[in-house]
Amino acid sequence: MIQKRGEKMENDMPLYDRLTEHIKLGRSSFHTPGHKGNFFTPELMELDLTELPDTDALFEAEGVILRCEKAAARLFGAERSLISAGGCTLAIQAMLRLASLRGGRLLLARNSHRSAVNAAALLGIEPVWIMPEGGKSYTGRITPEAVEQAFDEHPDITACYITSPSYYGELCDVKGIAGVCHSHGALLLVDNAHGSHLAFMKENVHPLALGADMTACSLHKTLPVLTGGALLNISSGTLAECAKSAMSLFGSTSPSYMIMASIDKCISYMFSEGAAAYRKCEDDVGELKKLAAGLGIPQPEGHCDPLRLTLNTASRGISGERAQLDFFEKMNIDCEFCDGENAVMIFTPFNTERDILRVREAISELGKLREISEINGRNEVPPELPEKVLSLREAVLSIPEMISVADAAGRIAADTVCPCPPGVPLIMPGELIDEKIREALADNNIHKLMVCR
Ligand SMILES: Cc1ncc(COP(=O)(O)O)c(C=O)c1O
Repeated sequence: MIQKRGEKMENDMPLYDRLTEHIKLGRSSFHTPGHKGNFFTPELMELDLTELPDTDALFEAEGVILRCEKAAARLFGAERSLISAGGCTLAIQAMLRLASLRGGRLLLARNSHRSAVNAAALLGIEPVWIMPEGGKSYTGRITPEAVEQAFDEHPDITACYITSPSYYGELCDVKGIAGVCHSHGALLLVDNAHGSHLAFMKENVHPLALGADMTACSLHKTLPVLTGGALLNISSGTLAECAKSAMSLFGSTSPSYMIMASIDKCISYMFSEGAAAYRKCEDDVGELKKLAAGLGIPQPEGHCDPLRLTLNTASRGISGERAQLDFFEKMNIDCEFCDGENAVMIFTPFNTERDILRVREAISELGKLREISEINGRNEVPPELPEKVLSLREAVLSIPEMISVADAAGRIAADTVCPCPPGVPLIMPGELIDEKIREALADNNIHKLMVCR
């Protein structure tokens, strides 16, 4: 048989081989998963089992899985914690389902991850949008004042959904926002995908400890858990009653036992030596942040995730993407994410001393580049929201069509379009693409998008 270029042959394993080769490179991982390949032993592979009389069942948990969930609840100070083997996405879907059961409207941060927008569409939730503030180079923060104003304008809001921390590490004033929500009898839901470890910092700044009613946490991003392992944490027994059925609405009937077992192992580690290891990591990253600040490399301002390092490479005249290619890659560093202005790195105690040394060296090298006085903010979002023509649900479930941005004026978006995820989308499903939005899409190098037919 003649193999076409790039085509998989029957005896060929392109993905498997690439992953194996990547591991052999010995690069320093500053991306997810949080275990960085340094926590689990190969025996975990043998635990790929299924629902058996003695292994419990995720959506009808009453045995070992329930015990594991109860331990997670104790660890995070929740009334109830539910395991997800379908990532934080599944926890977000369940969280929104639970919020929707109360009726009323949802206040949804405009910088929400697409998993929340898609879940809202599937559940028929038509959100009131709230804009983050101060996100010129980053995603920005929702403030208690803005939430208060939203309640004044929409007294039928019964739940508010925010993301904290942001991808860049910005933390919202969760305590303040929770206070506002509770004074209006509303729930606060937090997408804490990037912040599971916040419960183990010197100061516990996990959103649940600060008053959130529910948090969706991607354990796998910052704790030693296999990719796909997440938790839904709930602060009240009433909400918890329907939580399993809310999760089973979206979840696979074959959740991975390896992922669930990895969560169990992580919980046990965090109860023992894990917390101290994370606090030590906080010191290490704090030193790197100080080094960068001393060299005049800007980082997000205000209250931030202690373990997230966001370096504004644009201050040295190079985009984050270019810095990854020209700098970090050559120093064997893999970042979590690079955009037009920043390089973002996730640290956990599973980074080695060699990893930390490499970053120290990279920061010093970056500091030697000439400083640029004026940095252009990326991801400029037009201040007014686009006109809404269809509901989220109608747009997401419409028959979509991929078109060129050049032809997009006058069409209705069928998908979320974000210039540089994570960020504030320029357009959401159901909104009209006018000439101004079309230009903004083109300016952000977006060439194609999905519209409703
Ligand atoms: C802010 C945010 N929320 C939710 C998710 C979804 O998490 P998961 O990939 O665990 O499903 C992500 C993923 O990157 C994210 O960045």
